[in-house]
Amino acid sequence: MTAPDPAIRAGIITVSDRASTGEYDDLGGPALRAECARRGWPVLAEAVVPDEIERICEAIQSFETQGCSLILTTGGTGIAPRDVTPEAIRGVMRIEVPGFGEAMRMESLRLTPNAILSRSLAAVVGRALVLALPGKPQGAVECLGFVEGALPHAVKLAQRVPTSC
Ligand code: MTE
Repeated sequence: MTAPDPAIRAGIITVSDRASTGEYDDLGGPALRAECARRGWPVLAEAVVPDEIERICEAIQSFETQGCSLILTTGGTGIAPRDVTPEAIRGVMRIEVPGFGEAMRMESLRLTPNAILSRSLAAVVGRALVLALPGKPQGAVECLGFVEGALPHAVKLAQRVPTSC
């Protein structure tokens, strides 16, 4: 394993109506927690919220205030009426970083044609990089893997830490 990046302090938000009421077990959050542990990234905060713009925004902004430099969301990126994660993030972001969504969809399309349905994205909110991953735990883990190479540099830039390319 490469040395863990000290700039990365993760927050994990599962966005799901059914997981938030306990109707489903949250599988996405624990899957992402395991991925963070594997990479040596501390997880500072975790939450399960319903598919509601206000609740998603609140969790993201609270995690950023708590010092999370990389906020992973899982769920709500699709095209169902309740899928509003991209809208929530766009409501609080400074900038979107389109390459992340492009890469996640391009790589995921090699695995499933349904990858085209995900509006996954990355954005800078305050000093945190927010990465919106699909809801299926395996899809979230796959997408994180497709873009992880750019995360240390992107997180440092979002944190305004001096860095060289
Ligand atoms: N991407 C990967 N890598 N693997 C997957 O299994 N599932 C897709 C897509 N992206 C998937 C994926 C499916 S079936 C959907 S509907 C969309 O992500 C959106 O999922 P969400 O609404 O749960 O975020």
